Amino acid sequence: MRFAYADPPYPGKADYYSERQEVDHASLLEGLQLEYPDGWALSTSAAALRDVLALCPPGVRIAAWVRSVRRTPSRRPISAWEPVVLAGGRPLPVADRRGARVVHDVEDALVYRGRYRAFPGALIGMKPPQFSVWVFRQLGATRSDTLEDVFPGSGAVSEAWRRYVGAVAETRPPAIPDASPLQDLRMAR
Ligand SMILES: C[S@@+](CC[C@H](N)C(=O)[O-])C[C@H]1O[C@@H](n2cnc3c(N)ncnc32)[C@H](O)[C@@H]1O
Repeated sequence: MRFAYADPPYPGKADYYSERQEVDHASLLEGLQLEYPDGWALSTSAAALRDVLALCPPGVRIAAWVRSVRRTPSRRPISAWEPVVLAGGRPLPVADRRGARVVHDVEDALVYRGRYRAFPGALIGMKPPQFSVWVFRQLGATRSDTLEDVFPGSGAVSEAWRRYVGAVAETRPPAIPDASPLQDLRMAR
């Protein structure tokens, strides 16, 4: 299967990046649907979710990443989560080869508040490997698949993908790797 992960600037937050240009989410979502019918994932902000969902096809799923927060004065509760919109993906196993019931552990919520600043080329919005693997598993991704990292930024998601496909079995999503080898990612580039 061919998957894509899109991590554009949050709508209305283009100024965080040197391009200083809003990403046209309508075109982006059209492209994802046309080019990646097997499945895709898109990160956005909780504030933009309503508008982004209006551009999405029926059947998309919403997953929640509870992440670290920047403490800053705010008249509203500080947003401590980031939605990921998911489409398609490989169905997860419910039975093994002998027909025995399989109960998988892939969930649509992740609480991971670790920071990940040591990665070369670190930038605002960079995704930790724990996040990336969580997304790959939700897509049911396996070693035989490809992933297009549409807004690569630091390259951390692509690097996590390279490691994931090196670790995963041919036909089944892997267990969540333990954190220690993932921490080595900062040494990887
Ligand atoms: C949220 S960051 C991606 C972070 C990346 N997933 C990572 O883990 O490092 C968004 C990326 O989109 C790029 N970007 C910003 N505006 C853009 C635009 N109008 N067109 C294309 N890319 C843009 C930024 O430079 C940045 O690298």
